[in-house]
Amino acid sequence: MGRDVIVACDFAGKEETLNFLDMFTDVKPFVKIGMELFYAEGPDIVREIKKRGHKIFLDLKLHDIPNTVKKSMAVLSRLDVDICNLHAAGTVNMMKAALEGLTREDGTRPLLIAVTQLTSTDQESMEKDLLIKEPIDKVVMHYAENAKKAGLDGVVCSPLEAGKVHAVCGSDFLTVTPGVRFADGDLGDQKRVMTPAAAKEAGSDYIVVGRPITASDDPVAAYKRCCNEFIG
Ligand code: C5P
Repeated sequence: MGRDVIVACDFAGKEETLNFLDMFTDVKPFVKIGMELFYAEGPDIVREIKKRGHKIFLDLKLHDIPNTVKKSMAVLSRLDVDICNLHAAGTVNMMKAALEGLTREDGTRPLLIAVTQLTSTDQESMEKDLLIKEPIDKVVMHYAENAKKAGLDGVVCSPLEAGKVHAVCGSDFLTVTPGVRFADGDLGDQKRVMTPAAAKEAGSDYIVVGRPITASDDPVAAYKRCCNEFIG
C-alpha cells in the first residue's frame, strides 16, 4: 500500500457515521474506526463500512496476555480489516503472538502496527506512574524497535517522529501519523501538529485526519485537499 489519508471517524454511532460517509460519492476514503464507535455498534459497523468499499484501520489498541491477544487478532482478521493495532508495552512476546493470530485462510493478513507511548503520556507521568526513568524519545524509539523485532509493519507516531523511526527501523517500516492540521485550520486539542504537506516531507506513510475533515463545512473538499497536499 502506498501513501494514503485515513479519515478518523470519531462518531458516537452508526447513523452519524454512515451519513458522513454518504457524502463521499466518487471517492472511498480509508476510514479509521476507534473504540467509541466499535463498542457502541459492534463488529457490524466494520462489516457495513467494508461492504461500502472502504479500507479500514480498526484502532482498538489491544494489550493483554499473549494468548488472549492472539485469539482476539484471529477474530479481527476474519472481520477483513486492513490495519489493526496494539500497545507495544505488551512486550515483544505479545506482539509476536498477535501476528500469529492474524492469519487468514488465503495467506493474507491485515497490517499490524504498534502504539509506542500515547501522546497523552508525558515524561512526568511516565516517570511517576509507570516508573520509566528514560527520556520519552528513547522509550518511543525502543518500543518501535521492539515492534520491528516482533515482525510488525510499523507504528503510530507523531509526524515529527516519522523520520527518526524510518532511520532506526528502516524506510519500509510504516509510520501512521495523527496530529495533522491545515495551515489555516484550528488546532483543537492537538499540540504538536504538521500540515499534510509537511507530513509528506517528514516521511509519514499514512496520515490520520479527524476533525479537519469531519468538522469541516465541506468534508469532501477538505478530504480532497488533504489528499492533494499529502499524496500530490
Ligand atoms: O480530530 P483529529 O485529527 O485530532 O483526530 C486524530 C485521531 O487520531 C483521533 O482518532 C485520535 O484519537 C487519534 N490519535 C491521536 N494521537 C495519537 C494517537 C491517536 O490523535 N497519538
